[in-house]
Amino acid sequence: MSALNVLKSKAASKPALYDLLASQLRSLLEGERDLIANAANFSSLVFHSLPDLNWTGFYFVKDGELVLGPFQGQPACVRIKMGQGVCGAAAAKRKTVVVPNVHEFPGHIACDSASNSEIVMPIIKDEKLIGVLDLDSPIFSRFDADDAAGLEELMGIFVESIG
Ligand code: SME
Repeated sequence: MSALNVLKSKAASKPALYDLLASQLRSLLEGERDLIANAANFSSLVFHSLPDLNWTGFYFVKDGELVLGPFQGQPACVRIKMGQGVCGAAAAKRKTVVVPNVHEFPGHIACDSASNSEIVMPIIKDEKLIGVLDLDSPIFSRFDADDAAGLEELMGIFVESIG
């Protein structure tokens, strides 16, 4: 079994899995500064490495709204206004938003009916909001503080990579 598969097993700690992912992401993005290419590889690495996800991807700020970027999962809504849904809330607050039950989140935008919980984190470069990273899960309460901390570490590597 690969190190990744061992760490994906439920018994392994989330921080250990995120540490492994951080080193894999560093290698994957090394020497490349293209925003779309790096976002595409970032979303693929996360989607295929973390357990119990049904969607992982990016929305980027364009003309004052969020527009769909590279992702893994079912087709998703293309444009989200600032403040709307979980993505718009994370963008407007510039804070990571963890939602244990999306059906209880006022204004949640249901792109994939399989989603039951969600985490969205802002992408901030040089104090400017450039977008959000969104992860969805069919499992209620899938995301916790370890996921927020781990994903924020990965986000730091991504933001660094795009110059
Ligand atoms: N659920 C998100 C919309 C994006 S999809 O989950 C891919 C939201 O409420 O903002």
